[in-house]
Amino acid sequence: MALECPKIQTELPGPKAKVWLQRDRDSVSPSYTRAYPLVADRGEGCQIIDVDGNRFLDMTAGIAVTATGHCHPEVVAAIKMQAEKLLHMSGTDFYYAPQIELAERLGEFMPGPGPKKVFFCNSGAEAIEGAIKLARFQTKRQNIIGFYGAFHGRTLGALSVTASKAVQREYFFPLLTGVYHAPYPDPYRIPGGMTPEAYATYCVDWIRDTLLGRMVPPSSVAAILVEPMQGEGGYVVPPHNFHRELKALCEEHGILYIADEIQSGIGRTGTFFAIEQFGVVPDIITVAKGIASGLPLGAILSRAEIMQWPPGAHASTFGGNPVACMAALVTARLVTDHLMRNAATQGEYLRAQLRSLQSRHRLIGDVRGLGLMTGAELVRNPATKTRATDERNAVIETAFHQGLLLLGCGANAIRWSPPLTVTREELDVALRIFASALETVERRMP
Ligand SMILES: Cc1ncc(COP(=O)(O)O)c(C=O)c1O
Repeated sequence: MALECPKIQTELPGPKAKVWLQRDRDSVSPSYTRAYPLVADRGEGCQIIDVDGNRFLDMTAGIAVTATGHCHPEVVAAIKMQAEKLLHMSGTDFYYAPQIELAERLGEFMPGPGPKKVFFCNSGAEAIEGAIKLARFQTKRQNIIGFYGAFHGRTLGALSVTASKAVQREYFFPLLTGVYHAPYPDPYRIPGGMTPEAYATYCVDWIRDTLLGRMVPPSSVAAILVEPMQGEGGYVVPPHNFHRELKALCEEHGILYIADEIQSGIGRTGTFFAIEQFGVVPDIITVAKGIASGLPLGAILSRAEIMQWPPGAHASTFGGNPVACMAALVTARLVTDHLMRNAATQGEYLRAQLRSLQSRHRLIGDVRGLGLMTGAELVRNPATKTRATDERNAVIETAFHQGLLLLGCGANAIRWSPPLTVTREELDVALRIFASALETVERRMP
């Protein structure tokens, strides 16, 4: 049966959407980063139906969240069942089975031998806050090293390590003291003639020589916080040796290595955690986003001997809510059963097709990614790699009007982060619309 999506039957935004947009303008914080006026009503798999009945193909998964697709029937059934039994009892003060079961399950997925422990919270930023506190508590050191281009969230601690866009930090100073940033090796933007591997080594050496050698004695550094591949910063995959060399540096100085898997985890890149593909065992992992297929949940995972802090040191009223934990248990089963493999296969197909589009579209400067965390960087001229930010935004807007939901990342990249259930047919339809949107925007270029 042919895919009956997208199906756009009104002007966009449609009449009902227009009313909601006005009400939103009057009542909701303008700090949100809406790229186009989609007013979602229902979701099914890789499709979103808006309040006017328009059907969109969703390559965003609500920013890499609905891992099992929108409203997966097994996830919804588990949520309903748990909601009828127990909505909340605070895992901070009491015990309940779904939280314990999920901790056991996540502990099994964390790379490395030995027992693990898990702390539950509600979001990515909260997981980062907790991981920073845990690293400080465990090492009794103060400082944290992060990376330019990194995104770790918007609460004050997480924001201090975030270095993605200046607007995210403007007027929010002073941030956490003791946070330092280092260059993250982007293979598409290597300075003068280095190989990607040499550039990765250069970045790690920069931390060793410049940060640890001149600025922050290693004995004062609690942790290095790093995304296995940068998400919000532009879907940047570092050279293969980067994480290994970074981890070796951490081990040399007793610095904890924290992998922020909030966007890349839970099977999105084709392995349960993206860092597995770099052969590195982190000391601490943070997760959120896809963990519960759309319910709010975050977690910090670590080796058991690291997560040794006394009652009261860290806790959260809602973190590890029983309904969210049930959704996460089903998500983990579906992801490891087959969705992770689908993410690897479809991601490879998607990148091959995008590379083939690259040969016909001058706007596409680079195609990169792991699994279904795939990005295309748009440039005005492939030779100069001048960032095509306005053109990127125009492609996304044009695609929306043709029924395809995409999101940007970095200054000029487009992220493809569909649900892990995405099919070849859905990708083919999405790619056709994407090509047509590129063509429309390219025609307007000088
Ligand atoms: C890698 C990474 N870390 C942290 C966060 C923050 O997560 P949240 O928006 O749930 O606070 C994000 C969100 O995009 C992310 O991509």
